Amino acid sequence: MDRFVINGGIPLEGVLEVSGSKNAALPVAVAAGILGTTDSRIHGVPDLKDIETLCGVLEHLGVRTSYHDGSLSIGASDSLGIEAPYDLVRKMRASIYVLGPLLARFGQARVSFPGGCAFGPRPVDLHLRGMEALGATVRVEHGFIIAEAGRLRGAEMSLMGPHGTSVGATANVLMAAVLAEGTSTIHDAAAEPEIVDLADFLNAMGARITGAGTNTLVVEGVPSLKGVEYTIIPDRIEAGTFLLAGAITRGDIRVRGARRQHLSSVLGKLTEADVWLDWDGKDCRVTVPNGIRSVDVSTETYPGFPTDMQAQFMGLMCLAQGTSRITENIYIERFMHVPELQRMGAQIALDDNAALVSGVRSLSGAPVMASDLRAGVVLVLAALAAQGETVVSRVYHIDRGYERIEHKLSSVGADIRRVAD
Ligand code: UD1
Repeated sequence: MDRFVINGGIPLEGVLEVSGSKNAALPVAVAAGILGTTDSRIHGVPDLKDIETLCGVLEHLGVRTSYHDGSLSIGASDSLGIEAPYDLVRKMRASIYVLGPLLARFGQARVSFPGGCAFGPRPVDLHLRGMEALGATVRVEHGFIIAEAGRLRGAEMSLMGPHGTSVGATANVLMAAVLAEGTSTIHDAAAEPEIVDLADFLNAMGARITGAGTNTLVVEGVPSLKGVEYTIIPDRIEAGTFLLAGAITRGDIRVRGARRQHLSSVLGKLTEADVWLDWDGKDCRVTVPNGIRSVDVSTETYPGFPTDMQAQFMGLMCLAQGTSRITENIYIERFMHVPELQRMGAQIALDDNAALVSGVRSLSGAPVMASDLRAGVVLVLAALAAQGETVVSRVYHIDRGYERIEHKLSSVGADIRRVAD
């Protein structure tokens, strides 16, 4: 298991380029591999462990994949396996994305029931509710979700869950509804940019989806979809993380290639915190001419503040002037980074699904452990700003979602190196 050894206190300077979106690439690759009747080529696919895992799932079903320099080639097939086993699903929950497309194209799917994750229970009831609405029978047996149907039938449904809309359920049900007979109306659909990207990809394949980016999707089913060439949107969470790397080190960096409209809530909170942002074409320059001000943040579904930026923003607030209240509304137990930040000298008190962060003058380097992707990357941010050396262990969590992060950060002056155990 690799570790990062980071010597903090260096203001970052230079350009950080944003890679393609992991969370958009995952469902797009599944749609290409299972729904397409001809081959697809997808560009802007980040070189990440999660993408490799997904390709493993597709290969297991019989889909040919090959990855080179950001482009993923996916071969079409007229018959595929229909089972995603436990060993693959437990590595990555997004493996459940094969459920809807397998059901729609081949009339059956067997997908290992995903377990919880580091930040609490993560149910899949909304995915199953959507498949049932489209006419599938769904049962859970011996740890597998078993779904069967003849041709799916278009239907009207709501995918509202206890914590709002669901990105995963929306993507999964959308990938099923595109081949259903008749029209489906999905109310309370997720409006995240990754869903818009998936809908754009499916429409390019020949699907008929309207309403992407709103909470109501209307899908007119079509009999088949062809493969296409497509480029994935930039990763808004990586972009946000880089903006925070500039801010927390009080550096002067340009984040290149992000889409401004995808980041509005994060940009708004940074501006409130007195972080200066200047857009120049595809670059967002970030500087901190004054101190950082504390601001309150509540995570919401898009276009609200993303839960995937909560940990990183908390890192910044640890070094702000004043107290900030950070409320987590999507995954109410998502605070595993708190004890690790406390080890570095942060002042944080938990209060139900909120963290009260009292800014301190400085953090100090310490041995810390990544427990998931975003809870891991905030430790890198904190370490970049901290005095002395921090060793972040279990960086495989960070590798799931950040492409060559140590190289990108070194290129703007960070003292970070990867050490293998
Ligand atoms: C996706 C992202 C993840 C992000 C999350 C929220 C991917 C691969 N992952 O995860 O990085 O943190 O969106 O933006 O794109 N829920 C249910 N029942 C369900 C499904 C979800 O109750 O069947 C709940 C969840 O427990 C959570 C909320 O709905 O409280 C939102 O989850 P969801 O949007 O589905 O997250 P994922 O798609 O798993």
